[in-house]
Amino acid sequence: MRLAPQPSARPLRLPLILLLLLHVLLLGAAVVSSPVVSAGCPDRCVCDEQLVVQCAGQHLTTFPADLPLATRQLIISNNRIAELPPLALNYLSDLVYLDCSNNSLTEVSQSTFGNLRKLAYLDLSFNTLRRVEDRTFGPLASLVMLRMTDNPGLSEIHPDAFAENKALQVVDVSRNNLTVLNISSLLALPALRSVGLSGNPWSCRCDNEDLSLWVHLESFKFQDEGQTVCGSPADMQGRRLGEVGIQLRTLCHQTLGSWDYLFFVVIGFVIFAAGTVSAWLMGVVMVLYERYIKKKDEQLDLENEDESNETSHSSRGRKDCNNRSLKNTYTV
Ligand SMILES: *[C@@H]1O[C@H](CO)[C@@H](O)[C@H](O)[C@H]1NC(C)=O
Ligand SMILES: *[C@@H]1O[C@H](CO)[C@@H](O)[C@H](O)[C@H]1NC(C)=O
Ligand SMILES: *[C@@H]1O[C@H](CO)[C@@H](O)[C@H](O)[C@H]1NC(C)=O
Repeated sequence: MRLAPQPSARPLRLPLILLLLLHVLLLGAAVVSSPVVSAGCPDRCVCDEQLVVQCAGQHLTTFPADLPLATRQLIISNNRIAELPPLALNYLSDLVYLDCSNNSLTEVSQSTFGNLRKLAYLDLSFNTLRRVEDRTFGPLASLVMLRMTDNPGLSEIHPDAFAENKALQVVDVSRNNLTVLNISSLLALPALRSVGLSGNPWSCRCDNEDLSLWVHLESFKFQDEGQTVCGSPADMQGRRLGEVGIQLRTLCHQTLGSWDYLFFVVIGFVIFAAGTVSAWLMGVVMVLYERYIKKKDEQLDLENEDESNETSHSSRGRKDCNNRSLKNTYTV
């Protein structure tokens, strides 16, 4: 199995740090006080030398206690476990394979899988999950296969839920209650080669245009593409999601709604009004300018007249002076 690079360090939230600290302390205490912890096997489970712990179908209602710390495979399927306790689960830092299918899980979050950096296979199918939040699978840098089918109430997967699972190759979210799926982070996963979407009531409206185009363009990636069909609107029901991709593309980018028409009318009016006002302003400015120029010209003319009078006087004066001085020199 290939190891993907660890996600770049993000500032950890304080509660998470506390949680980790607490967990390190508890770990130390447990190892010191009861060496049985790492050697034993939980009640109603079978443990073998290959570090496989098998607890399937044991009517468990809680996560098994006293799991061997070095457990590599944990199978707790077909029970009625309602919660995956982050503290207990994250002791198991060598865990590679985790099958939680067919339980009563209602919630998983970022802290649930906080420390499982080697986990490659995760099965959450046949549970009662309702939504998947941002970065729920964030810490799972080695995750290759994620199965999350048959959660009848699961109707929401955050766009960035898988954003950091760079090793992910197979995602199966078949037979849930999904209507839309934002594919921006899925498209960025370099190794993704198989996606299961069938058995969901997909919306075939513009809100799901990207997904349906993706199914159309890369149908080879989709398992059971024939069963991946529209659940709404009524006139699209039962049509294949991939088949309506192109139709949605044209539909969602060409038709104009009443708001668009209103927008154009308003814009037209604004342009018209702005044109009228600016023409009027232009006119006013030009008239004022013309008047100003005229006034200036008149003023200049007046000033010129004054000046020419003055200069003629002064030149006459100067001539007199010269004459007088000349006369003086002659008389000397
Ligand atoms: C789920 O587990 C129960 C036992 O807890 C079993 O009877 C049932 O068949 C299982 N369902 C599936 C789909 O595996
Ligand atoms: C699936 O989602 C719809 C709303 O989108 C809701 O009305 C319905 O109850 C949900 N189904 C289940 C089984 O939760
Ligand atoms: C999908 O999610 C991304 C990231 O959260 C967001 O930027 C984008 O607008 C979303 N796309 C749609 C169609 O909602």
